[in-house]
Amino acid sequence: MEAILEKLHVDHINFDKLLNILEGQLHLLEDCEVSDLDTTLDAVRYMKEYPDCVHHPMENTIFKYFLEHYEHEHEHIHDLLLEHDDMPLLTDRLFEALQNALAGHLQERGELCAILEEYISIQRKHIDREEAHVYPMLDSKLGKEDWQQIDRVIAKVEDPLFGKDVHESYQRLLAQIMSR
Ligand SMILES: [Fe+2]
Ligand SMILES: [Fe+2]
Repeated sequence: MEAILEKLHVDHINFDKLLNILEGQLHLLEDCEVSDLDTTLDAVRYMKEYPDCVHHPMENTIFKYFLEHYEHEHEHIHDLLLEHDDMPLLTDRLFEALQNALAGHLQERGELCAILEEYISIQRKHIDREEAHVYPMLDSKLGKEDWQQIDRVIAKVEDPLFGKDVHESYQRLLAQIMSR
């Protein structure tokens, strides 16, 4: 697999770890057990900072290149691009719901659970669709020169949680991921 695509694929594996953390917290909330909202908020902050602001824009560059040079219409890519537009809004909605819960408004536990559950489901479906229908197709259709052109325009941003230098604000979250 081409290096850029391989990197994005590894991102998906990492995002899945985050989604598992979020799902674990969702089950605690549903069972009215003590949940770790601070770490949950860290996980969602990461979703805002890296997947929404770096991973999806990188995919947008590749997807749009493919549409421009290969197939002008592609059902999966069309839908995924639209989902990329919506995802930051969904992440913001969840982030806000968690902040409210942390501020003591836990009477809306049911609403928070619903938002969290929907968020996890949308993210997983999105990743599954890319992995099953789009990445293999891109890998087979795009050649070396295509990837060189894409590489020239794509922004390279270090992952603050799973990259070489883990940002201090994510140490607590990383410790939880490692302990699973
Ligand atoms: Fe995506
Ligand atoms: Fe992706």
